[in-house]
Amino acid sequence: MALRTPLCDLFGIDVPIFLAGMGGHSGPELVAAVSNAGGLGVLGAAVCPPDMLRDWIRRTRELTDKPFGVDTLLPASVRREAYKGASGPSPQERLPEYLAFAREFMEKEGLVAQPAPPGPRASLTKDFFLEQMEVVVEEGVPVYAAGLGDPGPWIERLHEKGTLVMAVVGAVRHARKVAASGVDAIVAQGHDAGGHNSPVGTMALIPQVVDAAGDLPVLGAGGITDGRGVAAALMLGAQGAWLGSVFLATHEARLAEYQKKAIVDATEESTTVSRSVTGKPARLIRSKWTQAFVDAELEPLPMPFQSAVSMPVLRAAQAQERADVAPGFAGQGIGMVQSIRPAAEVLDAIAEGAERALAAAARHLGS
Ligand SMILES: Cc1cc2nc3c(=O)[nH]c(=O)nc-3n(C[C@H](O)[C@H](O)[C@H](O)COP(=O)(O)O)c2cc1C
Repeated sequence: MALRTPLCDLFGIDVPIFLAGMGGHSGPELVAAVSNAGGLGVLGAAVCPPDMLRDWIRRTRELTDKPFGVDTLLPASVRREAYKGASGPSPQERLPEYLAFAREFMEKEGLVAQPAPPGPRASLTKDFFLEQMEVVVEEGVPVYAAGLGDPGPWIERLHEKGTLVMAVVGAVRHARKVAASGVDAIVAQGHDAGGHNSPVGTMALIPQVVDAAGDLPVLGAGGITDGRGVAAALMLGAQGAWLGSVFLATHEARLAEYQKKAIVDATEESTTVSRSVTGKPARLIRSKWTQAFVDAELEPLPMPFQSAVSMPVLRAAQAQERADVAPGFAGQGIGMVQSIRPAAEVLDAIAEGAERALAAAARHLGS
């Protein structure tokens, strides 16, 4: 019996397993590999300048004729976050103090400053996100996913282009909001997830979002790493699953080899939630950089200011392949990842595992 839900018909895919958009890491090669294998690959375009995003979309189309998606972040919530906690000195005023903290950290760790990569940089401003959205609309991609915020203002134009629209949420009230805006599917992403996530655990979040979503299909996300997790999401009422971290340990993922190895080496206890990289709470592998803020009892700056503090440190650490400083974002399921494999093999194993788990669950029903 094949793993199949109504979500497969809606999105034109064979198995209801999506490669999550992971900023900079889910590139055209990984997306095409997942889509060609029967799932749905989603480009992690959050930090792609508009021209690069267009190139990524076109490159993906060269690599697959199957449906795929684009994931970006949307401006309103980012802007709000940036100006939260307005009392006391502004983030701009506090920036020099934080930059000094970062310089001291680099010195102590023997990190050598690296020049910023050439070309336009992600500015994480309202205009940046708006320009990205113009590219998404113009290119008429099969699927658009808002990783943060409400895609409402763009839905009509996207639907005119035949683009299905999804939104990632971490709370029932957000699910209600994006459902009212007219999205086609909702991703319920819980606290177990890698990257920016919800305070609510995956197991508790999925069924509550499913209840709030009514007829809209829901995908479960956060810590789902093998077929058992996908089966569990379906048991909780989801019609599919949105998986990130497990696809980082693949040949096609755009991630340094030392970071792929850090995922394989990790256990279920290796991650933490920290604001030390982007300024928003994000799950990542615990490191000397996350610990430095804990030890100094220093609250990171809000998004987007914290990136100005963390990027020089992480760029230097990445150049020196320092897994102890910059291992990367990842979810709590990475303890299950044992090796670096081709993405199609990972997808097939997960789909088969889900089929086995669902069949086994049925056997729990005694006569
Ligand atoms: C390395 C990494 C980068 C991520 N970047 C983004 C992003 O740019 N946009 C987004 O919507 N979600 C991002 N996420 C979250 C994923 O889309 C997804 O919700 C999450 O990976 C699911 O949890 P899992 O990692 O436990 O599978 C990222 C996650 C990881 C691990």
